[in-house]
Amino acid sequence: MSGLCQDRVVVVTGAGRGIGRAHALAFAAEGAPVVVNDVDADATAEVVAEIEALGGKAVATTDDIADWAGAKSLVDTALTHFGRLDVLVNNAGFVRDRMLVNLGEDEWDAVVRVHLKGHFAPLRHAAEHWRAEAKAGRAPRARVINTSSGAGLLGSVGQGNYSAAKAGIAGLTVVAAAELARYGVTVNAIAPAARTRMTEAVFASMARPDDGFDAMAPENVSPLVVWLGSEESAQVTGRVFEVEGGKVSLAQAWRHGPVVDKGARWDPAELGPVVKDLLERAPEPEPVYGVS
Ligand SMILES: NC(=O)c1ccc[n+]([C@@H]2O[C@H](COP(=O)([O-])OP(=O)(O)OC[C@H]3O[C@@H](n4cnc5c(N)ncnc54)[C@H](O)[C@@H]3O)[C@@H](O)[C@H]2O)c1
Repeated sequence: MSGLCQDRVVVVTGAGRGIGRAHALAFAAEGAPVVVNDVDADATAEVVAEIEALGGKAVATTDDIADWAGAKSLVDTALTHFGRLDVLVNNAGFVRDRMLVNLGEDEWDAVVRVHLKGHFAPLRHAAEHWRAEAKAGRAPRARVINTSSGAGLLGSVGQGNYSAAKAGIAGLTVVAAAELARYGVTVNAIAPAARTRMTEAVFASMARPDDGFDAMAPENVSPLVVWLGSEESAQVTGRVFEVEGGKVSLAQAWRHGPVVDKGARWDPAELGPVVKDLLERAPEPEPVYGVS
């Protein structure tokens, strides 16, 4: 039987557990050979064994995705092991939550590095490969799926480092979509919600049902990512989808809002009523997560 991603070679970062593991298994179930990346070697080995036990193809890598050479090695693994690369799912990361007034430089750097550079570095090496493919006349039908967060789209109290990095990923997504379209590459992002090691404390109060639909299972996030990774999604690029349980929603990006144009430079003293007028004509912003 042919799957939705039959023989499409997929790289999933942070695929040793949580949402990334669910993505790797879901792609494999649709016929895709998968490069299972995670810094946790035991976890990658388990996921590879699970995929192989189900009759799929997978290879493990333990590259640090935010390391330039590590990200190149990740892309090279797909090319040397499976001979091609069709889909890059940027998913790996961690949190170091703290109020801004207590947030340390090391916590800022670590979170911005793993998420923002950890998205850019694999994307950059994959994009270079796809550009070469396009120039050689082998028209890629390639897909990148990035992982933002509700924290990046709306902000989240106690997660200034994470929110900034995840907002940066949304910005990177739209630029990459615009730049890579000419090479046959689409770039979208998801903002997922699921019960994982990262969010166990947040979603602890949401009981796992004994039977029926477990809306917080990470496996619920993956079907959309698999579809975005398929050839069917060719017309969809530069978008951010929120996904949780059975819900899929298209996030509305920043847009130009109400405008006043004086046609000349403002005097600062004039601007009070102007800003008041703009605020009255604009929709209220959605609340930052964690603001009561
Ligand atoms: N769980 C949620 O509700 C939720 C919400 C919004 C966004 N996200 C995002 O989804 C993604 C997956 O999160 P999760 O909840 O599955 O977390 P998780 O902790 O279960 O899994 C993340 C994986 O990334 C790996 N990883 C960390 N640093 C790495 C590196 N430098 N190189 C390679 N692998 C690395 C970890 O070892 C871990 O296995 C993350 O980007 C997270 O920010 C999750």
